[in-house]
Amino acid sequence: MNLGYFISFEGIDGAGKSTHIDRFCSLMKSRFPNREVVVTREPGGTELGEQLRSLLLNAPMNIETEALLMFAARREHIAQVIEPALTAGKIVISDRFTDASFAYQGGGRGLSLDKLNDLERWVQGQPDGTLLEPNLTILFDLPGEVAEERRSKARAPDKFEKLDLNFFEKVRQEYLRRAKENPNRFHLVDATQTPETIWDGLERLELRI
Ligand code: TMP
Repeated sequence: MNLGYFISFEGIDGAGKSTHIDRFCSLMKSRFPNREVVVTREPGGTELGEQLRSLLLNAPMNIETEALLMFAARREHIAQVIEPALTAGKIVISDRFTDASFAYQGGGRGLSLDKLNDLERWVQGQPDGTLLEPNLTILFDLPGEVAEERRSKARAPDKFEKLDLNFFEKVRQEYLRRAKENPNRFHLVDATQTPETIWDGLERLELRI
């Protein structure tokens, strides 16, 4: 039984989500002192997942192999980290989850959404027929050009960060399509705002935990 609360952070590379995660974690700890907070990430979050992350972010591979490895890492992450934490009533905050696969492998790479839906059902299907999904997804939305400009000032780019503007615009559009389809789950953040303004908005977020 899921007694916890699952939050994912999403957005195209350069949208600034990672800047806010640690602070958001501290906010959750102070707001819900009787709950443990687990911060994790995808791809990754387990020993095997981190090994897969290193392959996924560096090695060239077929698009379908990429999607399968993302979901393999996710299966391990759910089994080892997410499900046990939620069953124990913890708050789980993940830097990316399945929306990233739909946005990057589906929107960006062009993999069929049917195949992604099949993988999602396989990896996140629950005994009662529902899917394990975040209760809340905070989507940092930003035009591709602004994100590209921000990325150019950051560290050496990985395999995804090297992709062009057209790829990131398609990723962004798929994120926005999913947000529109799931308005109760998604909270959209205008990531063109200053970090302070974004933080003010996150602090005021009402959570039904
Ligand atoms: P990060 O740098 O934000 O941690 O994300 C790692 C990269 O992996 C990022 O470029 C997005 C990409 N990614 C996918 O393509 N599909 C996925 O399912 C996930 C979780 C991440």
